[in-house]
Amino acid sequence: MMFITFEGPEGSGKTTALASVAEVLEAEGHHVVRTREPGGSELGRTVRKVLLDGGEVAPLAEVFLFLADRAQHVQSLVRPVLEAGGVVLCDRYTDSTIVYQGHARGVDVVELRRLNSIATGGLVPAMTFLLDLPAEVGLARLTSRDRLDAEPLAFHEKVRMGFLAEAAREPDRWTVVNADQPAEDVASQILAVVKRKLRR
Ligand code: TYD
Repeated sequence: MMFITFEGPEGSGKTTALASVAEVLEAEGHHVVRTREPGGSELGRTVRKVLLDGGEVAPLAEVFLFLADRAQHVQSLVRPVLEAGGVVLCDRYTDSTIVYQGHARGVDVVELRRLNSIATGGLVPAMTFLLDLPAEVGLARLTSRDRLDAEPLAFHEKVRMGFLAEAAREPDRWTVVNADQPAEDVASQILAVVKRKLRR
C-alpha cells in the first residue's frame, strides 16, 4: 500500500508522468488506482465544474470547495484503496491548496495546513513528486485555459516558487524533478524513486 501524489504548475506534465508510472507498476502486479483532485469522486466532478468553469469564486469559497472535493475523495476512494493494499497515484492533493490558495492567492498557510488535515483526517502521502519548470514554459504547453490557468503570469510564478518552498520544507516526502525535459526522462526518474521506496 502506497499513496503517491504528483504536484506542479500548469503544463508540467504530471498527468503524463502519472500514467507512465501507473503502467509500469501495474505490469509489475501492483493494484494501482489513478485519480486526481479536484474531481476524483462523483461529488468532486460536480465541484470541479464549479471551480474551473469561470464565474466568480471568492478566495475562501475556493478553499472550501477544494477541501470538500478532497474530503469526499479521501473517504470514498483513497482510503479504501490503501486499506485494500493498493497503490494510489493522485494528480494534485493537499500541497496544491497550500500553494495555489496559500502562497499564490494569499490565504493564511498555517490555517490551510490545519484545514487540509481536517479534510483528510491527517492522510499524508508517502511520496510527492514536484514536476518543476518555469511558469512560462508550462503555460506555453497548454492548449486551453480554465479559470485558474487564466491567472496572470505573476500568479503562476508564485505557484512555482511556492511548490519549491514546500518541497524544501519536507525534503523526505518530496522529490523535485526537472519537468523541462522529455517525458520519458521525467517518468524514468520518478519510477526509479518509486521502485526504491516500494522495495523497502
Ligand atoms: P486541472 O485541469 O486538473 O489542472 P492540471 O492539469 O494543471 O492539474 O485543474 C486543476 C486546477 O486547480 C489547477 O489550476 C490547480 C488548481 N488547484 C488549486 O488551486 N487548489 C487545489 O487544492 C487543487 C487540488 C487544484
